Amino acid sequence: MRSSALTLSPRALSSHVPATSRLSADVTDRAIASALPTRLRPADLLRLTDEGAEDVLAGRYDHLLPPGGAWPREERWATRLSADEEVDVWLISWVPDRSTELHDHAGSLGALTVLSGALSEFRWNGRELRERTLSAGDQASFPLGWVHDVVRAPENAVPGPLDPTLSVHAYSPPLTAMSYYEVTGHGTLRRNRTVLTDQPEGDVK
Ligand SMILES: [Fe+2]
Repeated sequence: MRSSALTLSPRALSSHVPATSRLSADVTDRAIASALPTRLRPADLLRLTDEGAEDVLAGRYDHLLPPGGAWPREERWATRLSADEEVDVWLISWVPDRSTELHDHAGSLGALTVLSGALSEFRWNGRELRERTLSAGDQASFPLGWVHDVVRAPENAVPGPLDPTLSVHAYSPPLTAMSYYEVTGHGTLRRNRTVLTDQPEGDVK
């Protein structure tokens, strides 16, 4: 049975919330916002990667792509589509069997849109690694503390309109560091190293 509260408009609903609770929620929201390192939100980054993917597919970044469509076949490849003090946007080409290793994005939020091929993501959920497949058109965002390993999905993934497996990523603030992890035999994460880098999703050639 549906709760009658679900049929209330936001204005009506707010009128049923005690003023002290609303004040507390406002203070909490402001505290969270001021603690984040960027004014951009995951939804903003998702939109930027969506727009970037659309621009790549429309040929607006052809001048940044490998000449003659010769996508690297052995190593992951990336090019920066845009950058300012708030956000970096990258195009990444993925090759088989070159995972990123388990990593975080230090103090940056992130997001991606897959525009061709498919990616396999293995995310640490606090107890284990959970796998999901991100296919062309899929999006994902990475809040602070997100630890994952990303690799090109097996060849049986449905190909997109371009031959290579491509994704557009946005990071805010722009990436400055990443930490790498391993899963221990005790079901915990161990941080192995932290590197200063402005390159997306692990070192790329
Ligand atoms: Fe990542």
